[in-house]
Amino acid sequence: MEIGTPLFEGAKKVLLLGSGELGKEMAIEAQRMGIEVIAVDRYDLAPAMHVAHRKYVVDMMNGNAIKAIVRRENPDAIIAEIEAINTDALIELESYGYRIAPNANAVKICMNRIELRKLAAEKLKLPTTKYAFAENVEEVRKACKDIGYPCLIKPEMSSSGHGHVLINKDEEAEDAYRESISHARGKSRRVIVEEFVKVDTELTVLTYRYYSSSTGNIVTKTIEPIEHKRPSYYYVESWHPSTVSQKVKDEAKGIATKIVEELGGFGIYGVEILISGNRVLFSEVAPRPHDTGLVTLVSSDINEFQIHIRSALGLPTPEVKLVSPAASHVILAQSDEIWGPKFINVERALEIPGVQVRLFGKPSTYNKRRMGVVLATGNSVEEAIEKVRKASSMILVK
Ligand SMILES: Nc1ncnc2c1ncn2[C@@H]1O[C@H](COP(=O)(O)OP(=O)(O)OP(=O)(O)O)[C@@H](O)[C@H]1O
Ligand SMILES: [Mg+2]
Repeated sequence: MEIGTPLFEGAKKVLLLGSGELGKEMAIEAQRMGIEVIAVDRYDLAPAMHVAHRKYVVDMMNGNAIKAIVRRENPDAIIAEIEAINTDALIELESYGYRIAPNANAVKICMNRIELRKLAAEKLKLPTTKYAFAENVEEVRKACKDIGYPCLIKPEMSSSGHGHVLINKDEEAEDAYRESISHARGKSRRVIVEEFVKVDTELTVLTYRYYSSSTGNIVTKTIEPIEHKRPSYYYVESWHPSTVSQKVKDEAKGIATKIVEELGGFGIYGVEILISGNRVLFSEVAPRPHDTGLVTLVSSDINEFQIHIRSALGLPTPEVKLVSPAASHVILAQSDEIWGPKFINVERALEIPGVQVRLFGKPSTYNKRRMGVVLATGNSVEEAIEKVRKASSMILVK
């Protein structure tokens, strides 16, 4: 392979569809490797745009908008950084020979809870929560009865816990269904109803695929699981490595390898696993670096963002080593819209040895918007967790 110079003929180009914090770290890794970076998002001044060669602000649900940018830029790899993208446009572009990481079909399946659950539970027979699909109130009622209470209803398509509603009894089913689909992405009225399990802890198994030019093989590898807890539906804190037993880790890695080999392509996937008692359950998978994997910025010699860029461009990553126990904790906005927010007490947080702060550069806040992350290494994950909790509690957004 030949890698040209950015902005010159022969440059390798990566186009990011979605320019959030994950995109920003991918852009930085690509920049370090001398790759030309184009950042796209629906709003201007998004995190990855601060570190890209060029940027475009378009509605990514509009297939023509995406196709126009791709034709103009002719990238070597297209990375879907978020779910809310017109996936039919990606499928069409792939059919013309453009490389989508990991592949267009995986991006399409993973954003759809029903298609993904069918693939994981019915085709691959992976262990999951009990579930049923429904598309009207009657079907929701029946699903709840079959599954038992409490159960959790989720729209066919949505992200970050939008439209997740807990149902405790039959009388709640109707309102829950209406509430759930009001948060759905797109026009679908379909939902998945899941058994609500008591989650003891959660794992993300980062699993990646790359092409090895020396052997001509496609390799699938898992990274030691990352552990995280979610007091609410969104990501708060993760640590690496996880503290679960070797048996649980092996089961989780086995599940991750199966689903990722099925989805195929080249890139990293974040396979989400729920641990409930002695059950190790496949929950869902993201076809991209994972927010809980921000911890790999300090825990691993090669982080999840670099792995994705390498795989997307056809480059190998034969091994990833954990260099230190580590943790990460989000910095959330505490108020509604502020433009050009300011962060205070960063200097206090950085007094804690081993702590690093990443502020994403998002131009404005809304309540609970993720604005940054605190990372720390420690002699143990417990020590690292303590450091990130302390440091993140000091930093205020105003
Ligand atoms: N069946 C369930 N029982 C108990 N808790 C659940 C169940 N399904 C999901 N959860 C909890 O809700 C969280 C979010 O669920 P899920 O990953 O399906 O949603 P999401 O919208 O894709 O969120 P994200 O984009 O943050 O991954 C899970 O990480 C878990 O903590
Ligand atoms: Mg999830």
